[in-house]
Amino acid sequence: MVLWKSRWLSRRRCQAVRHIETNNFQKQSGNNISLLTSGFDTCPGGRCKCMPLRGYSTTEFVINNNMKRIFSFLFLLSFLLAACDTQTQSTSVSPKSPVVATTTSESPISTNPSQPVETRVDDLLKRMTLDEKIGQMTQVEKNSIAPGDITKYYIGSILSGGGGSPSENTVQAWYAMVEGFQNEALKTRLQIPIIYGVDAVHGHGNLHNATVFPHNIGLGAANDPALMEQVGRATAEEMLATGIPWNFAPVVAVVQDVRWGRTYEGYGEKTELVTLLSTAYLQGLQNLTDKDNPSPGQSILVLATPKHFIGDGATIWGSSRTEDYKLDQGNMQAPEQLVRKLFLPPYQSAVDAGAMSVMASFSSWKGTKMHAQQSLLTKVLKDELGFKGFIVSDWQGMDQIAPDDYYTSIVTSVNAGVDMNMVPYDYAKFIQTMKDAVNNGDIPESRVDEAVRRILRVKFALGLFEHPMPDTKYQVTIRSREHLDLARQAVRESLVLLKNENNVLPLSKETPVIFVAGESANDIGLQSGGWTLEWQGKVGNDNDGTTIFSGIKAAASPDTRVEFNRDGNFSEFKNSEGNPLIADVGIVVLAEQPYSEGVGDKADLSLGEKETKLIVDMGKQSKTVIVILISGRPRVITDQLPLADAWVAAWLPGTEGAGIADVLFGDYPFTGKLSYSWPRSNEQLPININNSEDRIGCDAPLFPFGYGLKYREPSPEILKCSS
Ligand code: BGC
Ligand code: BGC
Repeated sequence: MVLWKSRWLSRRRCQAVRHIETNNFQKQSGNNISLLTSGFDTCPGGRCKCMPLRGYSTTEFVINNNMKRIFSFLFLLSFLLAACDTQTQSTSVSPKSPVVATTTSESPISTNPSQPVETRVDDLLKRMTLDEKIGQMTQVEKNSIAPGDITKYYIGSILSGGGGSPSENTVQAWYAMVEGFQNEALKTRLQIPIIYGVDAVHGHGNLHNATVFPHNIGLGAANDPALMEQVGRATAEEMLATGIPWNFAPVVAVVQDVRWGRTYEGYGEKTELVTLLSTAYLQGLQNLTDKDNPSPGQSILVLATPKHFIGDGATIWGSSRTEDYKLDQGNMQAPEQLVRKLFLPPYQSAVDAGAMSVMASFSSWKGTKMHAQQSLLTKVLKDELGFKGFIVSDWQGMDQIAPDDYYTSIVTSVNAGVDMNMVPYDYAKFIQTMKDAVNNGDIPESRVDEAVRRILRVKFALGLFEHPMPDTKYQVTIRSREHLDLARQAVRESLVLLKNENNVLPLSKETPVIFVAGESANDIGLQSGGWTLEWQGKVGNDNDGTTIFSGIKAAASPDTRVEFNRDGNFSEFKNSEGNPLIADVGIVVLAEQPYSEGVGDKADLSLGEKETKLIVDMGKQSKTVIVILISGRPRVITDQLPLADAWVAAWLPGTEGAGIADVLFGDYPFTGKLSYSWPRSNEQLPININNSEDRIGCDAPLFPFGYGLKYREPSPEILKCSS
């Protein structure tokens, strides 16, 4: 037995191999012999440039007698090759990379932060095997990755799906989890870090006790780009605190049908509004400040992902093929000109502002899945818009192209331009399929190279090679005073006053008796909606925060009697004469049960009997009635509106419910305006600014886009329309 060390090899080669000496040859399972295609290119003085040669890829490599002959031959060959003066490093790489391509995990170019990113990318890509490249294109759900497989398969990305927290949902446990995955990635030959992604769509909602901001529908009503930038920044900080540099946000859907379960993830129905707000948010997430102490060459703080490309908000009712979804993942039929006019501007703006990842939509255009739309993904997004980042698929989104033919789905989607597959479960199958497809010539390796180039570019832009894990300094920002104040401000700005008879609002802080009814008046889960702790949201007060009720109690004077009953039954309270107590102000809070994605697709948006009864009952127990509606979209309230003196659309405010009391009691004004047309009836749906311009009277929406009262503005007369 001969113990053969890499050091031994390197001593006998030209000086250029110095960096090989300092770095170990890492063990490649099953492949001991490798082609040295690069790594010799730093030969001082340029005298001893070396041809690719055969060597061994392990630090310590045991050779038995049977192999001695091979060894001697290889040694002789390599000696001859190394001795000659040639310059063929990169040009000698065959069109298909060998299984194991190189010698070392370190390259002076790719690891040198002062080199331009493109140079570093080129250098790294040149040295990657096909397996390593395919690994970069693979994104796995964190519970599905087997121990050791990140290293084994060179996995490029891990994600948390909705609710995908570590078993202990703390900042430290998140950080340790991501770090554990990162360490596995750093054990690979080329030490390419993983990029970990999560849906922090209204703050880092999967993290227990994060600052949860209003969902985008509320931020659309606030329509404040400066606020959006700050929300983006705060979200980035709380994500980095948990070790995560990639956010699958913002949704830039220009939503055309509010029956869609993702309406609240969109800012609104108007292209310009969506473009303005989503771009500001993206800048908040991505832009570096001095505080961040960026690595040299780093250009992005947290990677944003405008999604879902393209037209996800314009599908036709009943066109979805997914479970019992109706709109979500369905089909859009709009002509190209309209697609470009309505849905492309937010992407153009995002790309111009530095967007480096875009998620493809589950939906279809003219019957073809977006994941297969080469003209839109490659020609429009990449070529025309000049997008330099990578396209990530949606969750098993590639698989939907040909549901019974995985191979075809993958080939079609990768060739169409999707660069990274959110697999997210069966990564071994995806990887094998990719290898087969490349080996069969169905996916050109140049296409794989392009995808990997884009992914690496982003990893460099994030500074991951220098700092695979973010600084723990961000951990103090979780629910910091600054973030809570910002979230509360966002809540205030998001509120839309729909009705205010006789100036019942603002309330006096000295109001003697206030009744508050409805379970959602005292439930942080209900006021937060979907994508909070769980994919579908979670009812209950699991998160820290302020409820609407607690906010009202805190805002009113200490002498005010504030009583809460979820069912609106206040009969137990008596006045000094022993008669039922009548409140001066009765506040009824109504909410949808939380939902997300197609689970929330709904034809009937009207209020239910239970909700109507709460309002009616309050009318019997209070001198005035104010309704606060918590919802992910406008609901049909035409019949109930006359039962209340004032009506506030509060959307899904998140954890800082006290922002509502700030405005109810007049400490701040109502400034929110509808970013969606408010339907008069279910029959009117879908109604939006693009299809209702000429509609008047009972055909018009109940409240138009842009509507929202200020204090002391008279409520408009509501038409009586027979349904
Ligand atoms: C959603 C995406 C989300 C992804 C990861 C998908 O179901 O459509 O918006 O980013 O899951 O959670
Ligand atoms: C995940 C979500 C994902 C969804 C897709 C859920 O199990 O938690 O993140 O969007 O599946 O259907």
